[in-house]
Amino acid sequence: MRQTDLKAAVLISGTGSNLKALITAVEEQGLALNIKRVVSNRAQAPGIDHARAAGIPVSVISHKDFPDRQAHDAAVMEALQADEVELIVLAGYMRILGEEFTSRYEGRMINLHPALLPLYKGLDTYNRVLEAGDAETGASIHFVTAGLDSGPVISQVRIPVLPGDDADSLAARLHPEEHRLVVATVELFCQRKVHYEQGRVYHLAHAIEEPLLLKPDGSFV
Ligand code: GRF
Repeated sequence: MRQTDLKAAVLISGTGSNLKALITAVEEQGLALNIKRVVSNRAQAPGIDHARAAGIPVSVISHKDFPDRQAHDAAVMEALQADEVELIVLAGYMRILGEEFTSRYEGRMINLHPALLPLYKGLDTYNRVLEAGDAETGASIHFVTAGLDSGPVISQVRIPVLPGDDADSLAARLHPEEHRLVVATVELFCQRKVHYEQGRVYHLAHAIEEPLLLKPDGSFV
């Protein structure tokens, strides 16, 4: 790891395929990211194995061991403190964070969401897209604020909804696109090309009006 690599933590609850995409980008594409720690709220999360295989310290902090959200959040924040992380990536972290957590890391915490925000906040996004008959869907990365899936959107990737799609086929097509999106967006942070100021997303020092859109070649429009 180089001194200038962006120090990050990744929070997961499950498969961790987006975590894996980041690890692969560090190992094989020279992404200037130093994943200092992975936190999982589930001891059985398969994503933990990706972290361990890469030699990344893992903290398993089960929400079931704490009386309430605030106490669990506090334990997670404590685990992150010593690492002095510059960016927290919520990659399939299935917990709603309390206001103390979101305000402490305001502008330094991003979340990956499988829909084109502000559409379909919350869960079960694929079925809701299908029920609405939408012609396309996608994934978004946004800064985390107190409101669920409501913070300013940084970047998106779009995919068409095809005739005959069900939730599984949509998810299967979206996942690789999500992986490209998380790597390309985190790279913007590593290059210090994107930041947050007073509730707005800045890209190359300009406040953006629309989310950056990921193109097939990996660059943004
Ligand atoms: C992704 O679909 C992401 O959009 C959502 O949770 C899923 C996590 O997948 N927030 P994985 O654990 O990274 O495989």
